[in-house]
Amino acid sequence: MAVGIFDSGLGGLTVLDAAQKRLPDVDFLYYADSAHAPYGVRTPEDIYQLTRKAVHDLWNRGCDLVILACNTASAAALRRMQEEGVPPGKRVLGVFVPLIEALTERQWGDNSPPREVSVQNVALFATPATVASRAFQRELAFRAIGVDIEAQACGGVVDAIEEGDLILAEALVRSHVDALKRKMPYPQAAILGCTHYPLMEKAFQDALGAEVKVFSQGNLVAESLADYLQRHPNMLGTGAGGYLTTGKPATVSDRATQFLRRKIEFRAA
Ligand code: DGL
Repeated sequence: MAVGIFDSGLGGLTVLDAAQKRLPDVDFLYYADSAHAPYGVRTPEDIYQLTRKAVHDLWNRGCDLVILACNTASAAALRRMQEEGVPPGKRVLGVFVPLIEALTERQWGDNSPPREVSVQNVALFATPATVASRAFQRELAFRAIGVDIEAQACGGVVDAIEEGDLILAEALVRSHVDALKRKMPYPQAAILGCTHYPLMEKAFQDALGAEVKVFSQGNLVAESLADYLQRHPNMLGTGAGGYLTTGKPATVSDRATQFLRRKIEFRAA
């Protein structure tokens, strides 16, 4: 029995780690499409095709429920996959909604009309493809009014993390935060809209300042997954858990072990 967790690379581990802690009895099958990362500089069509292929692979391996632990894939592929119809008994879910619900102080599934919330100036840090999609702004507009989102496309950060170059990643985070602050000097909150970025959360928080509330997806998605599985206990799937990559298993395992500070062993997808 396993729930599938998909990302272009290592970023989804931030969601997986929180989900494993929240749901210790659930097995997870993690799929990193490392051979094609980063997704954030690809076209929406390309991201859709790659995501679709990986999700079908996870479904075929027995996962009934697949979480796109990747904002870029959620932005470019989720709605299209849901609209074209998923196979019977299968589901695919994204990572935007739990975060937007937390930002707008809503309970799960509260579909009441948009209303004023306590934050007005929000910084969004995400990949170029996610920023271009405007998916966050769209989801937010369903739930809140009067919120100004200033988006910063953080080129290079995912590449640096995938390569294990955290010094470069930190320097890039600082320069992207500076660029954001030139456009919005006093954000009240910041969204880490890419699942890789929580691996650099301290760098974001330090550069933004302690007064800015930083939202990241790990715990929020884990909580909403726990809620979903309680309501749909039949979605635990039939396959075995583990870690799959389309890249080099030894390299990806080393980086994952470094990030999660516990032994993680990937095998070839
Ligand atoms: N973790 C992915 C996300 O949440 C990174 C995308 C990429 O590969 O550029 O957007």
